[in-house]
Amino acid sequence: MKPREIVPDVLYVGAPDFDRRLFDSLIPLPDGTSYNAYLVRGREKIALVDSVEPMKRDVLEAYLADVPRVDLVISNHTEQDHSGSIPWLLKRYPGATVLSSETAKPMLVDHLGLDAGRIRTVADGERLDLGGKTLRFIYTPWVHWPETMSTYLEEDKILFSCDWFGSHIAQTDLFVDGVDRIEAEAKRYYAEIMMPFRPIVRKNLDKIKDLEIRLIAPSHGPIYRDPRSVIQAYRDWTDDKPHNVVVMPWVTMHGSTALMVDHLITALVERGINVLPFNMATADIGQLAMALVDAATIVVACPTVHVGPHPAVFNAVILANALRPKARFAAIIGAYGWAGQMAETVKAAMPSLRVELLGQVVAKGLPKRADIEALDALADAIAAKHRGLGLL
Ligand code: FEO
Repeated sequence: MKPREIVPDVLYVGAPDFDRRLFDSLIPLPDGTSYNAYLVRGREKIALVDSVEPMKRDVLEAYLADVPRVDLVISNHTEQDHSGSIPWLLKRYPGATVLSSETAKPMLVDHLGLDAGRIRTVADGERLDLGGKTLRFIYTPWVHWPETMSTYLEEDKILFSCDWFGSHIAQTDLFVDGVDRIEAEAKRYYAEIMMPFRPIVRKNLDKIKDLEIRLIAPSHGPIYRDPRSVIQAYRDWTDDKPHNVVVMPWVTMHGSTALMVDHLITALVERGINVLPFNMATADIGQLAMALVDAATIVVACPTVHVGPHPAVFNAVILANALRPKARFAAIIGAYGWAGQMAETVKAAMPSLRVELLGQVVAKGLPKRADIEALDALADAIAAKHRGLGLL
């Protein structure tokens, strides 16, 4: 298999993974993914930017079959879907040196057992001339781990961004024009792994704002021929102002919580608010993560199992707490059979959400008139808060 040319002397040697359906034993991959690696050939030195997930090493191996020399392996990010084939690369190319950020070096040793003597760290902003191909290393922490950097190829104006701007999508076409066709996948990926670091992602965007970028070549998904649109999408996603949206993870066991969910959705819609409900019995958590990117309010709608929250909804609460979205408000609704601490347990599970709790409505069994009136009052309170932010 021959490496695929992106521009002269910059070649694709990565691997699509059409069949993978789960990442980190957590994240659904409805469209598969890819592990992108790029060969940059200078007159004096040859560099490989990132590697591939070890289970796809045979693809990289086939691409490199006729490449007798690699001098430098650029490790933009230590996570194993990009670095996992580096131990093999260092055996295949005994003269090769790994280049990484300072933070990444001990991580590469810890995670891959690399010989520290074969890793050279590069400074933020450092440039390296391969012979007509000049690499500039730009520290871009927290997209996705603290050690992550991006590599900019000056002559061709290509940003190798690793996870940043990536999307979990497998396709044979290496390119995408604009962001429209894959915006959902790119947003899903941002939501799943980068949203918790939103202020730092924004700083990274500022860091590259004066860089002339012709192509963004991420390490998952297609290469952007028009990078402006995905950069603008990232600006929108990381902006502090939420949208006029309520996200509502819910399940029901015997119908009481479902009645409350239906009533509250109608009440919110009547007040001009968009609602995105997710039945957690079947929901794709990636879709939930995407909805959390913009939502102003999270309403947790949860039945009681024994004395605590239903695990399917509680899992959504734990996920939301981990993803730290920009939501400003929250509320809890649900039902119980005979007693319970559902609402208290849910509240205690979201310390990282900087939300104002607008109320809780918990019915004993079927919702009664007082519960319905309390849901209407909750809808009023949510509408007032959205109006206060200028969203309504
Ligand atoms: Fe694609 Fe954070 O690894």
